[in-house]
Amino acid sequence: MSKRVLILSSSLREHSNSDMMADAFAEGARAAGHDVEKIRLSGKEIRFCQGCLACQNTKRCVIHDDADDIVQNHMLGADVLVFATPIYYYEMSGQMKTLLDRADPLYPADYRFREVYLLAAAAEEEDSAWKRAASGLEGWIECFPEAKLCGVVFGGGYTQAGSIRDSACLQKAYEAGKSL
Ligand SMILES: Cc1cc2nc3c(=O)[nH]c(=O)nc-3n(C[C@H](O)[C@H](O)[C@H](O)COP(=O)(O)O)c2cc1C
Repeated sequence: MSKRVLILSSSLREHSNSDMMADAFAEGARAAGHDVEKIRLSGKEIRFCQGCLACQNTKRCVIHDDADDIVQNHMLGADVLVFATPIYYYEMSGQMKTLLDRADPLYPADYRFREVYLLAAAAEEEDSAWKRAASGLEGWIECFPEAKLCGVVFGGGYTQAGSIRDSACLQKAYEAGKSL
């Protein structure tokens, strides 16, 4: 069955390594017949959650920016959410975390997503580089009991933009997308 797959790519730099992982995942998912959309957070206006909790009654955010559009018109209807992030200080990027906070209107809503994936790129190769990012994402997923973290693809050892090109981890990202 074809799934609606939404990839949220959070690196702001050009020739981003994690964005290349996102493209590889998308290619695999398309090859498997899924309906894939990728949104880059670069150039988007994504303001911080104000913590007013109005969305818990209205299912809408009081801030009308690009995050509001992403949450309402893309995340809400997706079957699979894929987050691509550079590792910053052993965590997900701030822009990804800000989007997760802004996705609070999904909490009381009839969200569809059941599968979540993480694609992470880092300078270091050790698993310790991505574990906290996965743990942070799992904290968010815990609030959506129908969903679970189904996979993490890690690209370690890539500092310079584009250095992940032609690497085996792009193949891993492709395979993860294809296996949906
Ligand atoms: C602010 C900042 C913090 C970083 N912290 C880490 C880190 O804790 N561990 C690590 O392995 N790499 C770290 N890096 C390196 C990036 O994760 C690496 O360059 C990665 O390939 C960037 O992905 P991107 O090209 O998708 O933006 C950091 C880079 C920046 C700019």
